Amino acid sequence: MPPTRTSGTFAHTDTSVVTIDRFIIEQEERYPEATGELSGILYDLALAAKMIANKVRRAGLADILGAAGSDNVQGEAQQKLDVIANEIIVKAMDHGGRLCAMASEEEEEIIAIPPQFRRGKYVLLFDPLDGSSNIDVNVPVGTIFSVLRKVSPGTEGTVDDMLQPGHQQVAAGYVIYGSSTMLVYTTGQGAHGFTLDPSIGEFLLSHPDIRIPPKGRYLSVNDAYEQHWTEPVRALMRRYRGLDGQREAMNVRYVGSLVADFHRNLLGGGLFAYPANTKSPTGKLRLLYECNPLAFIVEQAGGASTNGQQRTLDIVPTKLHERAPYFIGSKDDVAIATAMLATDA
Ligand code: AHG
Ligand code: MN
Ligand code: MN
Repeated sequence: MPPTRTSGTFAHTDTSVVTIDRFIIEQEERYPEATGELSGILYDLALAAKMIANKVRRAGLADILGAAGSDNVQGEAQQKLDVIANEIIVKAMDHGGRLCAMASEEEEEIIAIPPQFRRGKYVLLFDPLDGSSNIDVNVPVGTIFSVLRKVSPGTEGTVDDMLQPGHQQVAAGYVIYGSSTMLVYTTGQGAHGFTLDPSIGEFLLSHPDIRIPPKGRYLSVNDAYEQHWTEPVRALMRRYRGLDGQREAMNVRYVGSLVADFHRNLLGGGLFAYPANTKSPTGKLRLLYECNPLAFIVEQAGGASTNGQQRTLDIVPTKLHERAPYFIGSKDDVAIATAMLATDA
């Protein structure tokens, strides 16, 4: 079953100032049976996002501040930012009583909730810092997250709770640390975007009910891998570039941070592709931390996502760090991928 989407009629206009906290409450109030646990997870994630944004903004200063004898000389300054972001999320999320386990792209095994804290009925999966190799050159990076309901018996979260197909997600989102910091999330009632106002430290609703144009302007793919692509993938990319006369040419835009490439295409229309290739037959991107959360968002915005043969959200994961080929974005352009790659398994 695809996640259902009911377009919202919230009690505010385009110019109303609405904080993310207020918006989450308004969404929750539409479900009298809601316990508030999911809302609590989203609040805590928004806090973690602000803390990571603060670190990312200071990234280039680490050495200077260290040399000047500031507080972080020995400790944090030497840590990589993706490790710092990982710790920030774990520390922001482990004590709320709403999660029973977490899993991070940065950690081999699942992350247990410390014994002193209450266990909840959800698990959280995340990529703490996406595109982290771009940090050194001041290019946007992001955080991606996915929330699933616990399905295993007992109180502790297990790997089985993580290995659910993406259509079971109850919430998903990403944060982009760009020229401004934005958080986009969905709980299955549309995809909504919030921009951080740094002067007051609040995420304010800036992009309610995002809709991706059905046909894309931008193609995001690393075509340095062309030599390793299969023939159907090559033909598909020729189609997007307008070289076979079947579609007008798309413009190519590739940042190399999935979040940044995805965000542009979500707002402007486009397709991001990380195909399988003969050197990496499952592609590169991780199903649970990267592909599924953004697939949930894109579907809520009217777009689509596939691995070429199967809707991303229907893939049944078999391991935590599983990878999947990925074609995500405007609906009509994903349909072209599905048609041209149907037999490319
Ligand atoms: P991460 O930094 O979390 O490991 O992810 C990097 C990913 C993704 O952000 C990006 O789209 C992709 O790697 C780029 O890979 P290529 O350099 O192979 O194009
Ligand atoms: Mn990533
Ligand atoms: Mn990462």
